[in-house]
This record gives sequence, structure tokens and C-alpha cells, in this order.
Amino acid sequence: MLEELATLERQGLEELRHVGDSMDPARALESLESWRLRFVGKQGLLTSLLRGLGKLPVGERPVAGQAANQVKGRLEAALSQRQRDLSTLAMEQALVADTVDITLPGREPVLGHQHPLTLALDDMLKAFSTLGFRAVEGPEVEWDYYNFEALNIPADHPARDMWDTFWITDEMLLRTHTSPMQVRTLETTPPPLRVVIPGRCHRYEAVDATHESTFFQLEGLMVDEQCTLADLKGTLTEFVRQLFGNERRTRFRCDYFPFVEPGAEMSMDCFACGGSGCRLCKQTGWIEILGAGMVHPGVLRRVGLDAERYRGFAFGMGIDRVAMLKYNLNDLRHFYQNDVRLLRQFTFPVPAAETWSGRKPA
Ligand code: PHE
Repeated sequence: MLEELATLERQGLEELRHVGDSMDPARALESLESWRLRFVGKQGLLTSLLRGLGKLPVGERPVAGQAANQVKGRLEAALSQRQRDLSTLAMEQALVADTVDITLPGREPVLGHQHPLTLALDDMLKAFSTLGFRAVEGPEVEWDYYNFEALNIPADHPARDMWDTFWITDEMLLRTHTSPMQVRTLETTPPPLRVVIPGRCHRYEAVDATHESTFFQLEGLMVDEQCTLADLKGTLTEFVRQLFGNERRTRFRCDYFPFVEPGAEMSMDCFACGGSGCRLCKQTGWIEILGAGMVHPGVLRRVGLDAERYRGFAFGMGIDRVAMLKYNLNDLRHFYQNDVRLLRQFTFPVPAAETWSGRKPA
């Protein structure tokens, strides 16, 4: 028995010395495992030798058993040693094979950032939130009723020519402005109310530097028992000052929109030249930015409000236009062409998420 054990040990160690020779590291580990199974595994050679232990005279058993355990211990120790040797070898080979130049600069991760239109809209919403306006959104695919009818623009009314429309069916269209949300808001929200509504609009229009068939508007609506043209002017002047500087002056002139009475267009004095005339303001000293007016009593009545008791004002402006002015861009198409050379210029840090309501002016 003792001799057999010694032979087994010699044979095991001898084989182990060559296991994994000239193999790649993964294969070498596999061969080590089969060596282990063959010699010290539960069904291996050592185990089958030990099965003979019972046939030995009782007096010889302890010595043989002890010797078997020692052999097992030595074989296992040799196995772990061989495992370590092989992995050191593998590591050395790998280091030689793929040299890494640790002096090369790292790859800079590309950080995402917000689109200039989103940045401009954020500023606009913040300004209105300081004035107590809540932001809501509405559908882009709209009924003729909300886009026109309910805003005092019946079918065949010549004012429909003010908005070149993409029709979906006879009754359904892509909204040409955000004003339909005036009606939807009034239908669901009892006054007093103050809301701004940003959203995508569509017009069937020839595209040039200042016109796109898809663009964004920001609508505003306030309705209360006491609400005057002075509130309209004060609100919009404060808005313009928050966005374009505290020294801005505003100018209101009569304009026509069927859903307001009186209607107005608002301009601010040119922030580039201070009003003396330059290319930006086309030598006029003024920059037009929005349409506005007092909500027409017909609109209030249509949603079931008492037009004697309530009044309100509404306004609508192009978000693209405000963004062009703010970021000094001369072509609105830049916003939609996704040219990264332009967009990358807007990677300035964006303040952490803030809620729109209740925030003090910066
Ligand atoms: N909806 C109008 C437009 O698109 C703008 C507007 C909104 C005018 C609200 C008055 C009141 O031209």
C-alpha cells in the first residue's frame, strides 16, 4: 500500500509539472482541473487506492491512512503552486502582448446638454413663474373647433388666412398656434387663473431664415374678476426685462386677432443699439416680439363664463424668435438642423432642476 502511494505521488507530481505547457492560459486551467479529478478527485486514483484500506490487516491501517492523507496534502499543495505559476506566466505573456501606453491622454466623455430652444424656454417659464403663472401643455393635433371656431374664427372667415394650415381631416388639423389652449384651459379651470402654455405649432409655410413649418410658441392667459390692459402691459414688460435686461422699454400698438379685443403687438427697444437703429432692429430701434390682447367676451361666453364678471388677457410669442434674439442667431433653421458645431456652443452649465413656481428672480 505504502509503495503504491509513493508511486502515485511520484506519477502525479511528474505529470503536474507538464500540465499546461505550451497552452493558452484558459486551456491550461482546464487541464489542471482534469489532473485534479484524476489524482485527488472523489473518483480519482487516490480514492480508489484508499478503498483497499479495508483489506489491510487492522494494525497496518492507521499508518497507511496517515500516509495517504499526507500524499493527498502534498499533491494538493503542488496543484495550487502550479496554478499560481501558470497565472503568473499568463500575466507576463499578456503584459508583453498588449502594451499599454499609459502616457496617452484619456478619452474625454461626451457630455449631453440641453438644446438652445429648451434653454430659452426654461428662462421664459422661470420669468412667468415669478409672476404666478403655471405651465401646462396641450395637444399638437387639434380640432378645428379649438384652433379656430372657439376663437371667433368661423369657417370661411377671412381671418383664417392668417394661419396657413396643415389639415388632417375636415375637422382636425395640426395646431397653427397655442391659442386653442386658451379655450381648453378655460373649459376645465375656473378663474382666477394664470397659465403659460409652451408647445409645438405647424404652419403650411415657405421656409426661410425666420419661418419654419414647425416652430414653438408660448401662450399666456390670465383671467380674473379684475384684470385690465395695465396688467397685460405690466406682466409683459416685466417678462421682457427679466429676459433682456432691466432697462428694456416696451411699446404696444394696435393689432388684430379675432379672439382679443383690443388686440396689440408688443415690441421692446432694441437691446443691441439701445434704440438708435441697427441691423438687428432693421434701423427701427424696436424689436417686435409678441401678439396680445384682452380676451374677447365671445370667447369667455363660449366656455360658459359670465363676460360681465370676468375679464382676462392673453398673449402668444415665438419661442424660436426669443431664442434667436437671446443667442444672437440669424437663422431659425439652425434650431432644427442638429448641426453639432452650432449646438455644442450651448454646453454652458445648466442650473440644477428647479421647480417653476415660487422661484425668486435671479
Ligand atoms: N395666436 C396668435 C398668433 O399665433 C398670437 C396671439 C396669442 C395673439 C394670444 C393674441 C393673443 O399669431
